[in-house]
Amino acid sequence: MYTQGLDQAGKDKQLASEAEDRLSAFQARVDAEEKIEAKDWMPEAYRRTLVRQISQHAHSEIIGMQPEGNWLTRAPSLKRKAILLAKVQDEAGHGLYLYSAAETLGVSRDQMVADLLSGKAKYSSIFNYPTLSWADIGAIGWLVDGAAIMNQIPLCRCSYGPYARAMVRVCKEESFHQRQGFDIMHALCSGSDKQKAMAQDALDRWWWPSLMMFGPNDSESKHSAQSMAWKIKRFSNDELRQKFVDVTVQQADFLGLSIPDDDLQFDDTTGHYTFGEIDWQEFLDVIAGNGPCNRQRLEKRKQAHDDGAWVREAAQEYALKQAARTAA
Ligand SMILES: [Fe+2]
Ligand SMILES: [Fe+2]
Repeated sequence: MYTQGLDQAGKDKQLASEAEDRLSAFQARVDAEEKIEAKDWMPEAYRRTLVRQISQHAHSEIIGMQPEGNWLTRAPSLKRKAILLAKVQDEAGHGLYLYSAAETLGVSRDQMVADLLSGKAKYSSIFNYPTLSWADIGAIGWLVDGAAIMNQIPLCRCSYGPYARAMVRVCKEESFHQRQGFDIMHALCSGSDKQKAMAQDALDRWWWPSLMMFGPNDSESKHSAQSMAWKIKRFSNDELRQKFVDVTVQQADFLGLSIPDDDLQFDDTTGHYTFGEIDWQEFLDVIAGNGPCNRQRLEKRKQAHDDGAWVREAAQEYALKQAARTAA
């Protein structure tokens, strides 16, 4: 009995040291900036973190089509309509690349969609705010796509290869989105007083939710440290938020708009803008499903999913027919 006990303990020790070796070999690859690929060994928690992050990102792209889609039929000119149509289509494409990247980690597209529709999976809280005027389309491109770029450029260097490669193309398109938003704001700010007031009103409503897009303060962010060690994340939430504020305040100045924050100040000693406290209760409420448009967004997505059932069935049948033909 005693000897058997020792054998078991020895085996356990052996297994534990093998697991430790695998883990340190993995971390060494990450530290050496090697890309981790789909078939490589990875810690289960790394895989789960990526599935959560990439699927959440994909859902945000898809749900994000709704607030802008709302203005496709009411764009002020044919040119603006064509540009917005292209932008909304780009977002659909981003969702598709990202679902594909997540699938390489062993989760099915059906499962991800089911989690979105059941409310289990989250998407960016920003898309639960309504688009009340045409200026909101400008503010979304300028601020929301602008914040997305700040977050996503470092993801091009993410340690997980399929995610990093998807982000390269996504970022190129996001930069066009940001410019088209700024261009709308610029046109409105160079127009009549009424148009400029529309632009200011949109900035007033979208500014704080845009700052919330970077997530909780570093002191409250539970996944940050591990994600940084795994090189999934390169900068902390607060660092990215600061970069965004520093760039955007100067763009608002150029437009002649004022940022709705009485505490905003340029700090000569740090070279950065200091800004007021974010209303974190509002952020938590929106994440919990109680934002202005949460229910509407999910209902619309469910409807679109149901309406598209025949397309999925037809594609499935076609694939079966093709497979049968090849086999014959
Ligand atoms: Fe996008
Ligand atoms: Fe975008």
